[in-house]
Formats: sequence, structure tokens, C-alpha cells
Amino acid sequence: MTGADIGLIGLAVMGENLVLNMESKGFTVAVYNRTISKVDEFTEGRGKGKNIIAAHSLEELVGKLKRPRKVMMMIKAGSAVDDLIEQLLDFLDERDIIIDGGNSNFEDTVRRTAYVQEKGLYYIGTGVSGGEEGALRGPSMMPGGSVEAWKDVKDIFQSICAKVEDGTPCCDWVGENGAGHFVKMVHNGIEYGDMELICEAYHLMRDVIGLSANEMQDIFRNWNQTELDSYLIEITGDILGVKDSDGTALVDHILDVAGQKGTGKWTAISSLQEGVPLTLITEAVFQRYLSAQKEERTVAAKSYVKVKTDFKGDRKEAVDNLRKALLASKIISYTQGYLLMRNAADKYGWKLNYGAIALMWRGGCIIRSTFLGKIKEAYDTNPQLSNLLLSPYFHQVIEECLDAWRKTVGLAVAHAVPVPAMAAALSYFDGYTSDILPANLLQAQRDYFGAHTYERTDCKRGKFFHTNWLEAKEK
Ligand code: 6PG
Repeated sequence: MTGADIGLIGLAVMGENLVLNMESKGFTVAVYNRTISKVDEFTEGRGKGKNIIAAHSLEELVGKLKRPRKVMMMIKAGSAVDDLIEQLLDFLDERDIIIDGGNSNFEDTVRRTAYVQEKGLYYIGTGVSGGEEGALRGPSMMPGGSVEAWKDVKDIFQSICAKVEDGTPCCDWVGENGAGHFVKMVHNGIEYGDMELICEAYHLMRDVIGLSANEMQDIFRNWNQTELDSYLIEITGDILGVKDSDGTALVDHILDVAGQKGTGKWTAISSLQEGVPLTLITEAVFQRYLSAQKEERTVAAKSYVKVKTDFKGDRKEAVDNLRKALLASKIISYTQGYLLMRNAADKYGWKLNYGAIALMWRGGCIIRSTFLGKIKEAYDTNPQLSNLLLSPYFHQVIEECLDAWRKTVGLAVAHAVPVPAMAAALSYFDGYTSDILPANLLQAQRDYFGAHTYERTDCKRGKFFHTNWLEAKEK
């Protein structure tokens, strides 16, 4: 039967680029957009002369699809997705497949999968990462939902996604219901962490070590030849080289107020719900909020004037320490992100393949890096690995970076430059690798004011004691 291989709803840039990508791989795509004029604009413009079929209503779109019909929504996350599902259900039949390629909250995807399956259809919530360029040339894709539908979309997804050097696609089945969107959410949290770490390194280079944008550009380019080799390091180097009309670095003219759409916040919320210390990513989210308090910061900066102390150290050494601090902190960020996924997998019954997730992120997406190849190796060697810090490779890297990491955080503190992500990462590392923490005192405090009891070091776990501290202190 003739007809389109897939239908796509939502012709904003991501949607359009995905359509063009699919078409370039030999698939026929039917397209629809709520503002209908956009459909003809696209099929007569960027889509002209291609195997792209215009549809001017949902019914028409569905009517143009091969069975089982596959309809992919590329629309704004939130209630619009629920509304569209409801409308699609009027036209689709049993075993047809609804796909959500937006940045939906995984809990919504859990609910929607159950709802659509109840109606006898299949649902896939897929993370799509890589921005506009990725959508066109090969994104990283993280699909989850109704596993029965995977065989029908696998060919399309794995044809359009990015590939690693050996041709392996950066897309594989993640797991049931909301697993794909959960993994995409953690990807975005890690993206926040990576970006914050780079900004902290830039801040130290600019305000303490005293480097120019051009000098920093060279450093980022050099770093991109090391273990830090990644898309975000690469684009940072590019950004630092771009000049404004007056010849100065454009980045120096950009207001220091960061925006966010919420996926980093969801990651942090999820970590609190799961009881997983996700300290680095959470600090990265908080830093965006702090940056947004521009007016208050300006007032406070006038009230607490910072005494600038000159940097007296060796610049080259400081920059190399910084590279190591960034690398070690990045290891902590991914360690924490993977711990969050492991916890969620247990809670939701997902059988996540951690090596495969690293491979999905290895190309196409915003956090793509060679570093992820090392994470894949660590999980391939030991799929049960409980914490990345315990893998021999990362253990060795951390040991090599530790001294430089401490010096960098110390340098930042001494020069009043905030490095919340690097410092949080170091504190997590020091806490995680401490046999003894001061929580003994904390338990004593809880027992003092609330009779919350405590366990003793000289008794078996699970035996609880209470002290009448007021009485004891009188003695
Ligand atoms: C991606 C990005 C993409 C988007 C983020 C930006 O993987 O391609 O993560 O999903 O750029 O939503 O998020 P913020 O606006 O919150 O920075």
C-alpha cells in the first residue's frame, strides 16, 4: 500500500528538520501543523520537491499514513500534548502508534503510555537531543513507552539518528513507559552541569588568572584535544572567538542572566524525591536562578565590595589545574546522574542498559563527548557497577586530578569567585569516600530535641538507643 511512512505534527524548526532528515533517509513523511498556513509554507518552501505530503487536518494526516500508523508530535510539552492525543484518538485505530518527541516530563509519559495503551494503541515518548542542527543531521534519540511499537519505528529512528564512528546508531530502546523521557531529563540535567562547569572555568580564567577571550579560546581548543573533548567545549571555543562590531568579544556584551525551560529543575526535583545526592546538577540549576537575580546582585555587589587580590601563581599551571578540576567534577556529575537513573530504574521497574545509554549520548546530543565512550566501557565491563567512581579507569583519573581539583577550588575561594558546581562535586567526593562523617553528632542532636534515637558504633545495625540528654548533661 502506498502512503506516508510517518506523520509529523508541529512544524517549528525541530519538527521541520526532523521531517527533512527522515525524507533524506528515504521515508515519506506526511506533515500537519495547527497553524495550517505553516504546512503549505513548508511543503512549498524547504520541503518543496521532496517526498513530503501536506495535510490540512488531523483526519487528513492520519488518512495518508501506512498502517500501523505512526504519528510523531513535535509540539510544546504540557497540556497541548494531552489535547492532541485526545484528538488523534478519534482518528487512529488499535495498534497505531503515537510518538511524543518533545521534552515532556517523564511522569506525564508514564501516564500517557498507560492511557493510550488502555485504548488499544501504542505510545512512545522519546527524548530527541541535538538542537536544530542535530534534528536535521542526526540527533541522539532516547525512546521509551510501549515496547510492542519499537519494531515498527526502529528503522526510522535508527536511520535518522546520529552514529558513532563504527556506525552504531545513537538510538536504542530505553525502556517502558517514561524511561526514554527520564533518560532525556537526566541528559538535560547533565547538560546543565557541564555548562555550569565550563562557565566556572571561564570565570576563573577571566577574573582570577586574567586571560583574554582570545587566550581562553586557545585553551578551550586545546582542551578539546584532551579527555574533555566534547561538543560543549568545542562551541565554547567558537563563542570566545566571535567579535562584536567594535572588535571586542561578543560574549563580553551578553547580559549575565541565564534562562531555563525546566528540565534541569525536574532532574533536581527527581533527585530529591529519589534520595540521590545530585549536588552538582542542582547547584547548576541554582546558579541559573542566582544569575537571574541581576538587579539584587547589583545592589549587593555595591554593598559588599570585593577586594581584588592579584593572582600570583603560575598561569600555565593554574590553567592545567583547572582542566583537571573540570574533568574530575564532570566525572562526579555523570556519577550522580547515573545513580539517579539506577534509582529510578529500580522504582519504576525499567531495565536500563547503562552502557547503551552512554552510547546514545556519545553522538548527536548536546553532551556528546569522547568521555561517554569511557562510561560505556566502564558499564560494558561491569554492568552491575554501582558507582562510576569505583570503576578502575575513573578511579585513576580522579587520583590524577585530585590535587589540582583541590587547588582550583581553593584558588576560587581565596579570590571570591563562586565555583558551586566544582566545590559541590569535591565535597560529594570527599563525603562519598569518607568512612566516618559527622552524622553521629547530627543523630545526637535529633535525639536530644526529638527523641529520634540513634544507632551505636559498638552494636549491630538496627538496634536503636535513646538518651535523656538533659538528665545526662546534669551529671
Ligand atoms: C537538547 C537540549 C534541548 C534544549 C534544552 C535547553 O538535548 O537538544 O537539551 O532539549 O536545548 O531544552 O534547555 P534550557 O532552555 O532549560 O537551557
